[in-house]
Amino acid sequence: MNRLELEPTEIGPAATYSWLTSLIVPRPIAWVSTTSADGVDNVAPHSFFTVSSEDPPVVQFTSVGRKDSLRNVEETGEFVVNFATEELADLVNATATDYPREISEFDALGILREPSVVVRPPRVAVSPAAFECVVEGFRSFGDHARAGTVVFGRVVHIAVEESVAREGRARIELLHPIARLGGAEWGAIGEISRRRRVPYTDLAGA
Ligand SMILES: Cc1cc2nc3c(=O)[nH]c(=O)nc-3n(C[C@H](O)[C@H](O)[C@H](O)COP(=O)(O)O)c2cc1C
Repeated sequence: MNRLELEPTEIGPAATYSWLTSLIVPRPIAWVSTTSADGVDNVAPHSFFTVSSEDPPVVQFTSVGRKDSLRNVEETGEFVVNFATEELADLVNATATDYPREISEFDALGILREPSVVVRPPRVAVSPAAFECVVEGFRSFGDHARAGTVVFGRVVHIAVEESVAREGRARIELLHPIARLGGAEWGAIGEISRRRRVPYTDLAGA
């Protein structure tokens, strides 16, 4: 292979970001709702998002810089991850606009709230699933403008629209998840295949 060999310290943060976000793909989008100490409800997409632990159940998202979502979870210790679908993509994107902190994206964009069961931040009513979370901790990678802060949240409640649930899990063919790719690229899910994991004892000769 003819590879580019790149050192982050040489190419700089902007170029490194482009390689990270165009190669770590597809990324699911956590549509994170939070409430400030003053009671303003916020919702914003975060694709630096994954499962951190299954037991206890913990998820994480990263704030690049100090955004309203991060400040709200620092103040109140709670957030909700709402599921982002293809059908909701334009609305999800609209919530990435840098509204002033005192303006709620729910109100500015006419997004219907649904009360959460355990935490204070509301769920997004049109989203088919939500994880209600209580902050477990933070890991910050500096205090410069684009420094990342990872927010860990223990999942204290799971809400799923009944029609997308079957046999104790979500039905991928009905969820239509949307993903973030590199730059302004977004993607939908492709063909779904199934593979069973093979125990070592099933291998010939083992
Ligand atoms: C699909 C998508 C994914 C994003 N992922 C992140 C992310 O992981 N971390 C982040 O800080 N910003 C991310 N952003 C940008 C934020 O959503 C944007 O800065 C937003 O205004 C933050 O809102 P807030 O200040 O109300 O928290 C993303 C934007 C889009 C459209």
